[in-house]
Amino acid sequence: MHNTDLEKMMDTTDEWIRERTGIQRRHYAAEGETTVDLAEKAARRAIEAAGLAPGDIDLIVFATATPDLVFPNPGTLLQARLGCRGVPAFSVEAACSGFIYALSIAEKFVRTGDARRALVVGAETLTRITDFTDRTTAILFADGAGAVVLTASEEPGIISTHLHADGGYKDLLYCTGGVSSGYEAGSDGKAVIRMAGRETFKVAVTMLGNSVDEVLAKNNLSRSAIDWLVPHQANIRIIQAVAKKLDLPMERVIVTVQDHGNTSAASVPLALDTGVRDGRIRKGDTLLLEAFGGGFTWGSALVRF
Ligand code: ACO
Repeated sequence: MHNTDLEKMMDTTDEWIRERTGIQRRHYAAEGETTVDLAEKAARRAIEAAGLAPGDIDLIVFATATPDLVFPNPGTLLQARLGCRGVPAFSVEAACSGFIYALSIAEKFVRTGDARRALVVGAETLTRITDFTDRTTAILFADGAGAVVLTASEEPGIISTHLHADGGYKDLLYCTGGVSSGYEAGSDGKAVIRMAGRETFKVAVTMLGNSVDEVLAKNNLSRSAIDWLVPHQANIRIIQAVAKKLDLPMERVIVTVQDHGNTSAASVPLALDTGVRDGRIRKGDTLLLEAFGGGFTWGSALVRF
C-alpha cells in the first residue's frame, strides 16, 4: 500500500506522510491471511538461514499484539506447523517492543542451558486493529513478520539486553478492546489502536535516548563501538534522534520504515533481516537493537553478530 493508495481512502497526502513519518509504502496481509501465516514464512527462512531444520528448534518465543486466537497461543500454532511438537512455545505481548522482550527471554533460556536453538519471532497483522477512519494512526501501521534463531555458543552473540516498562502511560497508546474488559461503546466489537502521537513521540525519544546511555554504560562502551543501529521503525524522526544520540551517521542505521511502516513486533527483525541479507551487517559487527511501544514498553539489545 503506497501513500498514494491511502490518499484515496482518507484525507491525507503522500507529502504529509513522508515528511512526518518517512513512510512511503507498507504491506497489508491478504484477506484471511493471519499473523501465524506470516510468521511461518519468516520462521522457515530464519531456520534455513541458520543451516538448521525445524526439528532442531527446542524453544519458540513469539512476540505479537495481534495473535490469531486468544489461545492456543501463536507460538504453539507455529510449532504445530513447523512440526517441532513437544518443545516449549509461548507468546509475549509488549506491543512494538515485543521482539526485544522475546529476544531477551530466549537469550536467558539459552544462557542457562535450557534451550540450545531458540526460534524468536515477531509478527503482526496490525491492520486488523487499525481504525481506517483515523488518519492520524491509519497511515502508520502495517503487517509483517521477522524471525531469528539463537544458538548456544561459547562466544556470546547477545551481549546484554535491557527491558523497561511504565504502565502509567497506558492512555497515550492502547487498543480499545479486550477479552476481559470488553469493547468501547460504538466500536462494534472491533478493537482499534488509539495513540496520542505527539506525546508518544516525545516519550519515545527520551526513553530511547536513556536506553542508549544505559547500554553503553552497563557495557563500559563508547558510542564508537556500535557498528549498526537496528531500530524499531515507527518514525524516521525518532530513528534520527536516536542515531544523533549515538553520534552515528544515518549510513550506519538500518532504515526500513519507508518500505514497511510500523509493523510493531515485526519491525526490528524485518530491519535486521534487510541489513543482513543485503550484506551491510557482517559477522563480528556490533549491533544495537532498540524498540519502544504501547505500555509504554521499551528496551535494547547489544548484539555481536
Ligand atoms: N494526513 C494529513 N494531516 C494529518 C494526518 C494525516 N495522516 N494526521 C494528522 N494530521 C494533521 C493533524 O490533524 C494536525 O493538524 P493541526 O495542526 O491542524 O491540528 C497536524 O497534521 C499535525 O499533527 P501531529 O499529530 O502534531 O503530527 P506529528 O508531527 O506529531 O506526527 C505522528 C504525527 C507521525 C503520529 C508522530 O507524532 C509519531 O510518530 N508519534 C510516535 C509514534 C510512535 O512511535 N508510536 C510508538 C510505537 S507504536 C505501537 O506501540 C503500536
